[in-house]
Amino acid sequence: MSEWTEVARAADVPEEGTLPVNVGGEPVCLYNLGGEIFATHDICSHGNANLSEGFIVEGQIECPFHQGMFDIRTGEATAAPCTVPIRTYPTKVENGVVWLKKT
Ligand code: FES
Repeated sequence: MSEWTEVARAADVPEEGTLPVNVGGEPVCLYNLGGEIFATHDICSHGNANLSEGFIVEGQIECPFHQGMFDIRTGEATAAPCTVPIRTYPTKVENGVVWLKKT
């Protein structure tokens, strides 16, 4: 699927927080960084943890299981034990609605 999909209301993604959404059976985590919405896969590449239950630290998401970290904008693993990047998705906000594209 490469179409834009409506996934949430922007107002439901808390400032400097996360919102888990299910996009066609795929777990995705939305982030609000300074009013801008970003999206990554919600499952850590190190284990079966939901990143949406982690903590945002300076544009990175800290996994709640072993405190590995990923850059929210790029999906790059930035702290051990994580080494494999997570998927990221393009997002856009129109009329208060968050749209996401699986590429
Ligand atoms: Fe995320 Fe281990 S499961 S750091």
